[in-house]
Amino acid sequence: EGGGTVRRSLREMRPYSRSIALLFVVSLSVVPLTILTPLPIKLIVDNVAGSQPFPEYLSILAPDPSQLSKEYVTALALGILLGGTVLSYLQNLVSIWLTNRVGNRMTTDMRVRLFRQMQRLSTVYHDTKGTTDSTYRIQNDATSLRSLSTDGLIPLVTAVLTLGGMMLVMVRLDWQLALIALSVTPFMFLFTLVYKRRMRLGWRKVKSSESAAMSAAQESLSAARVVKAFGQEERENEEFRFRYTETASAALKVLVEGGVYSMLVGVVTAIGLAAVLYVGIQHVLAGTLSLGALLMVNYYLTQLYSPLKDMGKKVLDVQMALAGMERFLEILSEQPDVPEKRGARWLDRAVGKIAFHNVSFGYDRSRLILRQVSFGIAPGMCLGVVGPTGSGKTTLSSLILRFFDPTEGVITLDDVDLKDYRIADLRNQFGVVLQDTLLFSTTIAENISFAKPEATSDEIVEAAKLAGAHEFIKRLPDGYDAQVGERGMKLSGGERQRISLARAFLKDAPILILDEPTSSLDVQTEATVLDAIQRLMKGRTTLMIAHRASTLRTCNSILILEPGGMSRLTDEVESSLQSLTAVGPADWKRTLIDGGAD
Ligand SMILES: Nc1ncnc2c1ncn2[C@@H]1O[C@H](COP(=O)(O)OP(=O)(O)O)[C@@H](O)[C@H]1O
Ligand SMILES: [Mg+2]
Repeated sequence: EGGGTVRRSLREMRPYSRSIALLFVVSLSVVPLTILTPLPIKLIVDNVAGSQPFPEYLSILAPDPSQLSKEYVTALALGILLGGTVLSYLQNLVSIWLTNRVGNRMTTDMRVRLFRQMQRLSTVYHDTKGTTDSTYRIQNDATSLRSLSTDGLIPLVTAVLTLGGMMLVMVRLDWQLALIALSVTPFMFLFTLVYKRRMRLGWRKVKSSESAAMSAAQESLSAARVVKAFGQEERENEEFRFRYTETASAALKVLVEGGVYSMLVGVVTAIGLAAVLYVGIQHVLAGTLSLGALLMVNYYLTQLYSPLKDMGKKVLDVQMALAGMERFLEILSEQPDVPEKRGARWLDRAVGKIAFHNVSFGYDRSRLILRQVSFGIAPGMCLGVVGPTGSGKTTLSSLILRFFDPTEGVITLDDVDLKDYRIADLRNQFGVVLQDTLLFSTTIAENISFAKPEATSDEIVEAAKLAGAHEFIKRLPDGYDAQVGERGMKLSGGERQRISLARAFLKDAPILILDEPTSSLDVQTEATVLDAIQRLMKGRTTLMIAHRASTLRTCNSILILEPGGMSRLTDEVESSLQSLTAVGPADWKRTLIDGGAD
């Protein structure tokens, strides 16, 4: 499973391979620069202060070693010092620039892909996972590819090569010292191996528990009215504290483990350093090692352990990034519930003939919500749907919108299976008005033109007039430019429904789906909204889900959904609306005649 993630992550890096390769070359140039750093000290100590032979590997800089003046060697040492410093800072600058350029591009690309995929996924996915989990993934997991490549693997490989380069130089200077340094490294790798797995599991736990805590908090805040109404604030506080305490203790555990790991590495480092100094000074006293060379080894030692520690840390970072990649890839491999056929049909504007042929459907196999439902609606006609809460009315409308496919049976539009149409074309055929209208945090005008962004302001006003919304919009302080939604003004239920109707008028779709459009309104408001609804229904095929007889009277036929998935179709609208109360004692039927609220 882990290997699969690594392989798939490498494949994700392919589009950026040129930038990564360039960054790699720039990063690698740090290796010779690091190795050259202690050279000036060695030259000064051995060849200016002392009189050791001039190093052979620098013979290009001094064609005739016997003629070398101390001034020339001093100038050479200072030149290497200054030049090396300027080059390392330049290298650092270019590397930061490149890292962030390609890194930010990766993160943006991943965010866009996650967002696009989440839009493709079904409403069931969002209902079960919650929006906060999705936003968390977009915010945090989308940085994983960057953490893995530019911030993880490249520094890791650079560290390995720097380490190797310094080892080589040390072996040339004094193989015994190099051996001591080398003998310490296996312990570090051992610690890294042991802790890498633990930290990865720990981080995964922190991530999922943090995202669960955020979800719970957001849910509770967005349901503030319910929480207050039931006086459950204290319990929510407790729950909140509990979840965050859990997250904090998971995070603490990982951090402490990280600290223990650093300590073990640090102690092993110190032991190695002590051993090298002890042996090294003996060699200097015995004359087998020059003082400058010991200083050089000493410098390498302090630098040697830094790439080693880096390596350990980067291995852990890579583990963490892999946990994030797993979550990223998991979303991308999630299949949308309703796939689009290859070469699906284009549909400009439907005539509006809808038919169900023995349609059965259940969200899970064990429980069917609809059983063998059949009906047809001729173009321009209206089918009313009634039934108790939970009988599957909304589910039925979701099937027509193709949010799901039937478990059995076929749904057709203009005598063609819904599955044969391009999904975007199909959904473009519907105007939808739901029980509660969601407004976006923007102006009224933009809320109305949501389904038709290119609409002119005249068209928007015209639609608002038809929906009976123009009057109240004109009275708002900013009129059509008034801000509404979460961060703006609150509109009443009736006003929101009229905005929703204006959306439908503007979209001018051949089919209407009205899911209890008036059931959250009082009787007065309902009457005026119904007026607008009837105007909207003219010339359009309509599926009208409602509880109230007043709303259903305009329909041509009625589909009655019974609990348990059975259904009955009738053309005798008025008499069946009357008889529904006479037939059964069930409460929901009484509301049909009373016209009462549900
Ligand atoms: N996304 C879903 N996943 C699983 N079950 C669902 C989902 N939506 C609705 N249901 C269940 O399907 C049944 C019918 O729901 P629904 O169509 O909303 O009924 P109605 O609109 O008639 O009140 C209910 O028992 C409900 O719990
Ligand atoms: Mg419903």
